[in-house]
Amino acid sequence: MTEILQQQCAFHLRNANISYVMRLVNGETLMHAYFGKRLGEVRGDVLRRFAAVPEEAFDRNEFRLDRLPQEYPASGYGDLRAGALAVRGEDGVDALALRYVRHAVRDGKPALNGLPATHDETGRCKTLCVTLEDRRLALECDLYYTVFDDCDAIARHVVLRNTGRQILSVDRVMSACVDFHSARGQLLTLSGAWARERRMDWRPLAQGRQGVDSVRGASSAQSSPFMLLAEHGAAEDVGEVYAFALAYSGNFTANVTVDQYGGARAMIGLNDAQFDWQLLPGESFTTPEAVLVYAADGLGGMSRAWHTLCHRHVTRGRYAGAQRPILLNNWEATYFDFTEEKLLALAGKAAQIGVELFVLDDGWFGRRDTDTASLGDWVEDPRKLPEGLAGFSERIRALGLRFGLWMEPEMVSPDSDLYRAHPDWCLHAPGMPRLTGRNQLVLDMGRADVQAFVYEAVAGALTRAKADYLKWDMNRNFSPAATAALPPARQRETAHRYMLGLYAVLERLNKAFPDVLFESCASGGGRFDLGMLYYMPQTWCSDNTDAHDRCLIQYGTSLVFPPSAMGAHISAVPNHQTGRVTALETRSAVAMGGTYGFELDLTRMDEAELDRMRALLAQVKSVRDTLLYGQYIRLWNPFEGRGAAWMSVSACGAQAVVTAVRFRAAVNGGPEVLRLRGLESDALYAVRGTDLIVGGDELMNLGLPLHFAAGDDTAFTAVLERVGG
Ligand code: DGJ
Repeated sequence: MTEILQQQCAFHLRNANISYVMRLVNGETLMHAYFGKRLGEVRGDVLRRFAAVPEEAFDRNEFRLDRLPQEYPASGYGDLRAGALAVRGEDGVDALALRYVRHAVRDGKPALNGLPATHDETGRCKTLCVTLEDRRLALECDLYYTVFDDCDAIARHVVLRNTGRQILSVDRVMSACVDFHSARGQLLTLSGAWARERRMDWRPLAQGRQGVDSVRGASSAQSSPFMLLAEHGAAEDVGEVYAFALAYSGNFTANVTVDQYGGARAMIGLNDAQFDWQLLPGESFTTPEAVLVYAADGLGGMSRAWHTLCHRHVTRGRYAGAQRPILLNNWEATYFDFTEEKLLALAGKAAQIGVELFVLDDGWFGRRDTDTASLGDWVEDPRKLPEGLAGFSERIRALGLRFGLWMEPEMVSPDSDLYRAHPDWCLHAPGMPRLTGRNQLVLDMGRADVQAFVYEAVAGALTRAKADYLKWDMNRNFSPAATAALPPARQRETAHRYMLGLYAVLERLNKAFPDVLFESCASGGGRFDLGMLYYMPQTWCSDNTDAHDRCLIQYGTSLVFPPSAMGAHISAVPNHQTGRVTALETRSAVAMGGTYGFELDLTRMDEAELDRMRALLAQVKSVRDTLLYGQYIRLWNPFEGRGAAWMSVSACGAQAVVTAVRFRAAVNGGPEVLRLRGLESDALYAVRGTDLIVGGDELMNLGLPLHFAAGDDTAFTAVLERVGG
């Protein structure tokens, strides 16, 4: 049950487990009071004592706001810390005094204008909107809060409204800010690089500002729009954790500033570097949505809240909660070097082992034999597809497979008909040479003409191919984020306008092609965020397909995202990125941590290997619901070096799938045992393929004996079926 209560001049939002409280002081200043475990009654006297200065200070106009936890701090007027909001009027003065004007409570969860956001079909969410106002600038600021019933999360966003007559410059507008009384603890971010995405990066909180951000135009492989604050000693299943994520795929910041008194201000929102938005009289501006999760039971509890949120409140459409096709993608099998004959031979083998969907990756259009040409020319290359997408996809379907396609719609190659026709359509700065990355330029998705072109190109290809799936790729970042479509004073709106344009196209495509499964990709996992997940239920996790490395990448990713969101494929050995050789069983076990698929040349495999693949794939099909939608529990942390282990328990508890990968072979070591979690203590479980019947209590306390084959990076998997108890 979610509730929004008014108690003692306080707004109290809560569900069965969490409370979020803010308080009005002197009827006009909105202070942050509490976020954490559910409270019963909120008593004003206690709240008053949290203020380090007497409230009368407000009446004396003393500037002591920096000794008080603010709910949505503005910059430059009484609070000496960085604010969540900075807006200037025509006099250029950077000072805001936000005062409460009104509030409203409503059932349900509002959508955000043009932006991805959580949604609710349970009918049990409630939303509070508190409106603050700066009278001098005639600026209204709506703070939205939705509390969910089935996961311990609060969604927040802000809407600014210019109700006056002057042009306002919005220099900074965070989606959420929380002023914690005390900063004891640590910060965790998911940082990395191309092919090394979402490493767990812990650091102790110290006075000053720390966090992550992106000005790359994408949420990025380097830093995810996510951070968590955890008390010292917090671990997988113990400790209080506060997590923040942004449903946005462009430039962001997620940071925490520890002040001189030991308080911590955590903020998440649009990055204010390279941002400045002109708000004209009568206009409004909506921030991306931030989601805050509180867990009292460590990182595991936090992740289960995120996974529920992703499954029920972020992912939409036909594939939300549904099975995902097991696919074969031809990229690592052929790269650009293919003919229709070669692809059909590959697809034939894929059908034989039980694959369900064939994905044609890069190279099918224009004259794209390398990555130096043709992005933007979305017309079939007759040398490779003599009968076009229509004819080729028919042949794929005749093999019993569904058909999927790769496109990189946001990009243009300088060597393309599109670029020759529209040289101004890409992001560029006048008078400066156009910088390429992977030999390509970025189309300006903020422009209506570019949006129309991109929509038509994608819709046309999907229609010709009667496609069931689209991999939407994006392989370079913005530099510079400048456009020919905006006047000088609005250049710093380019990056956000780009995102709004991109989201508008994705929304249109989602509506027009409700049966197509969209998979997001940005050189692998360079845009793995809640924003993209709203339009595309899965993301290609990384260009690094090495099973060992994937253990780390998928583990970090699983902090926020469930297996159903993570594209994971079996690829060839030696691995194309690392040169490492791992057993087929290991590659399969690791791909089971995601959506499962293949990305290798099956025509080079002998019959024995194909048989092993067929058997592995059949096993996955028998447990796929548990793998994608079961309760996901991390057991061994690969960042600690021993290996990775995790398990998924089906919603009804009748089945569990356990996976462990041991990194280093051990000679003459002791028995390896894995203590499981999430089972019923007094139930009995049969271990599939053996005659073992074990108690849940035994599995969770004594543990499951593991048997690893010889060699490094070997895997163990077990399927447990509840048989009684
Ligand atoms: C980058 C992607 O991450 C790869 O999987 C592949 O689709 C290539 N782009 C194609 O250019």
